[in-house]
Amino acid sequence: MSSINYDERIPNNVGIADNRRLKRALEAWQPAFLDWWRSNGPDGFMEKDVYLRTAISVEPDGWMNFDYVKMPDYRWGVFLMPSSDERKINFGRHKGEPAWQEVPGEYRAPLRRMIVIQGDTEPASVEQQRYLGHTCPSLYDLRSLFQVNVEEGRHLWAMAYLLHAYFGRDGRDEADALLQRHSGHEDRPRILGAFNEETPDWLSFFMFTTFTDRDGKFQLASLAESGFDPLARSCQFMLREEGYHMSTGERGVGRIIRRTCEVMCEHKTDDVRKHGVIDLPTLQKYVNFHCSVSMDLFGAEISTNAANSYAMGIKGRFREEGIDDDHLLTDASYPVEAWTGSEFKFSDEPALTTLNERLRNDYYAECARIVDSWNEIIREFGIAFELRLPHHAFHRAVGSFAELEFTPTGELITKEQWNENHDKWIPNDDDHVFVRSLMQEPVTEPGKFANWIAPPDRGLNRLPLDFEYVRLS
Ligand SMILES: [Fe+2]
Ligand SMILES: [Fe+2]
Repeated sequence: MSSINYDERIPNNVGIADNRRLKRALEAWQPAFLDWWRSNGPDGFMEKDVYLRTAISVEPDGWMNFDYVKMPDYRWGVFLMPSSDERKINFGRHKGEPAWQEVPGEYRAPLRRMIVIQGDTEPASVEQQRYLGHTCPSLYDLRSLFQVNVEEGRHLWAMAYLLHAYFGRDGRDEADALLQRHSGHEDRPRILGAFNEETPDWLSFFMFTTFTDRDGKFQLASLAESGFDPLARSCQFMLREEGYHMSTGERGVGRIIRRTCEVMCEHKTDDVRKHGVIDLPTLQKYVNFHCSVSMDLFGAEISTNAANSYAMGIKGRFREEGIDDDHLLTDASYPVEAWTGSEFKFSDEPALTTLNERLRNDYYAECARIVDSWNEIIREFGIAFELRLPHHAFHRAVGSFAELEFTPTGELITKEQWNENHDKWIPNDDDHVFVRSLMQEPVTEPGKFANWIAPPDRGLNRLPLDFEYVRLS
């Protein structure tokens, strides 16, 4: 079942053709999806040929195929990793039982909620990035943006499939609602805060794909452990695509840093804005902003919801199987850092209720490695500047730090001090205006790159950098 049948209207490897009710439901949802894509997807590029990759099989080798395609003709479909009959639930009170092929009645509501929340983020990011194509720094980057966008569209398909296939009428309603909420909409916003923020410029896009898509990775990795087998197998495949989104971000930011360092060395100054590149302190502010809002996506430090999802076998920990413990956590504890009123202090809390915090810490550790790799570039140029992740209490809107204000290095400050200083720490209006001023005109000549970003080391799929990644004429 791992090869994907492209003869069907909805490409899939889950045998949709054999299930008439499901086939009809998904074929009814498909035009609504396409309407949504046309009115919320990349603005102004629907009729252009884009050099995109499409999954042709879920096997590790040869799962992708590159070709020119107009985005509305992209073959979105439903791809699950192959099932293994022996897969067992790895954690929680059902540990050791066979993974569920159907939704257990008693877990129907929490599972549906989990899938809806994940599903809601997928179209949200497409909406947030809708206008970026008009200010692209190169055809290479324009293609990357569209690849990320069509794959987020596919992630939406993945969740909509689960809702249609396993949750009956409520599932169909929820799948419709995924197309009705919109990022930043006054009455029908997306569910999570960070997905209602704008992605107003390409620096924000690269930061978003670094930090917010990485939240996605950690959520998907935890859901890939789920006792509900179709969800686990869905997320396993989505994680492959997510890897591409994160590397688009990391490499994009890395290329911006490289260009800035080149200009700093060339002109022997760190006052580089006048030379049309983004100064390192401004990049630090973007790191502070995107890291902190993404940290909020993991939820409160102490959460009975998280504990229940784990105990029920719905959502595991990051790389659950590799963790050396009983996978029940009923007697285990986990250290959680909190502000006592005078200092940060760790206290041991029940491991079950602190699963959000644990996942956030896993996430933060990975972000730190990314920032290290960016600093490596700065060091190559012999420049004495280090980017840093903000302290985890900085600029938080969710959890125990939400009511307090901290500096990026974790000193407690008053509300007044925050109000006076925050525009030194997160991008202010001037920063946004400056960054946008660099991106007024798109750069669309094959092989050319905007002044504020270095070209990548090599082209995509062994093609030259001056390949026509998007045909605009
Ligand atoms: Fe996604
Ligand atoms: Fe993504």
